[in-house]
Amino acid sequence: MRVGVLTGGGDAPGLNAVIRAIVRHGIDDYGHVIIGFKDGWRGPLESDFDELTIESVRGILPRGGTILGTSRTNPYKTEDGAKRVLDNLRAHKIDALIPIGGEDTLGAAAKLAAEGLKVVGVPKTIDNDLSGTDYTFGFDTAVQIATEAIDRLHTTAESHHRVMVVEVMGRHAGWIATYAGLAGGADFILVPERPFDIDEVASRIRKRTSRGRYFSIVVVAEGAEPAEGTIVVQQGEEDSFGHVRLGGVGNLVAQELEARTGYETRVTALGHVQRGGTPTAFDRVLATRFGVAAIDAVDRGEFGVMVALRGLDVVNVPIEEATAELKTLDPKLYEVAEVFFG
Ligand code: F6P
Repeated sequence: MRVGVLTGGGDAPGLNAVIRAIVRHGIDDYGHVIIGFKDGWRGPLESDFDELTIESVRGILPRGGTILGTSRTNPYKTEDGAKRVLDNLRAHKIDALIPIGGEDTLGAAAKLAAEGLKVVGVPKTIDNDLSGTDYTFGFDTAVQIATEAIDRLHTTAESHHRVMVVEVMGRHAGWIATYAGLAGGADFILVPERPFDIDEVASRIRKRTSRGRYFSIVVVAEGAEPAEGTIVVQQGEEDSFGHVRLGGVGNLVAQELEARTGYETRVTALGHVQRGGTPTAFDRVLATRFGVAAIDAVDRGEFGVMVALRGLDVVNVPIEEATAELKTLDPKLYEVAEVFFG
């Protein structure tokens, strides 16, 4: 078979491990030809691709990013986009496609599957907010990076008696913020799922003073929002999937906390550092298992599915299940984090 693969949306550490697994297992064990499309859906839209060989994936397992490139191109926002993708794939005799992506990339894949494309999706996002799977690869690495940053900020915060606000990624879900905040011993964690009251955060910080703690660490997910009628966050531009560019809530939180507590406050926005560099061992293993399972599904002719982690097992779930709704933060996990607030 000729099997296409593409990586779409924000990159995530582990993408290359998936590609390597697809190529190694697909060629060595099944004799497939693997075609790598460039820059997400732009590849099939513009027929931009290369054949991937065992040689071309050598040494990529520990590398961050994606050797295929990525983009947020949405075939459904491009004139005749879906038709062009289907026509081009047919013209290049692609029997099946493995899109590796998050809600947007897999959302487009689900629609194309409904139009007859044979797809096996692979879930990816550092945000860990895709339904249908317990974890996405990239998340563990992002949490590790954010935790290390919080550990480092702790010592300088304590020395200077400052409040340190750490802004982490998480557009709609506070998974990274809560895991890294828990692991790093944060004094408050602000997440998109729970609009925050800045006065409550400030009062917790002041309470720490009475207990002899003259510094605080506040972790803020970039998508966190103030409760209605409290303070206002500025909105950025939108991408082709209609997502607003975020970043900046950390500054707002810092400004308001400094004014309310009198503590000198500093902000660290971790941004894309969380997505770059080498994946953790957990992400390499998960990504590799997903790649192998995706090729197995193609070989068995199981299409319209996404590979997923359920408990300890990698299984196939209907691709629509992954994109129907976002997997927001488990409230029980946030309750555990709350035990350590203030
Ligand atoms: O969706 C993953 C993600 O890393 C979000 O957490 C973040 O909001 C977004 O991508 C950033 O996108 P970009 O790389 O386009 O700035």
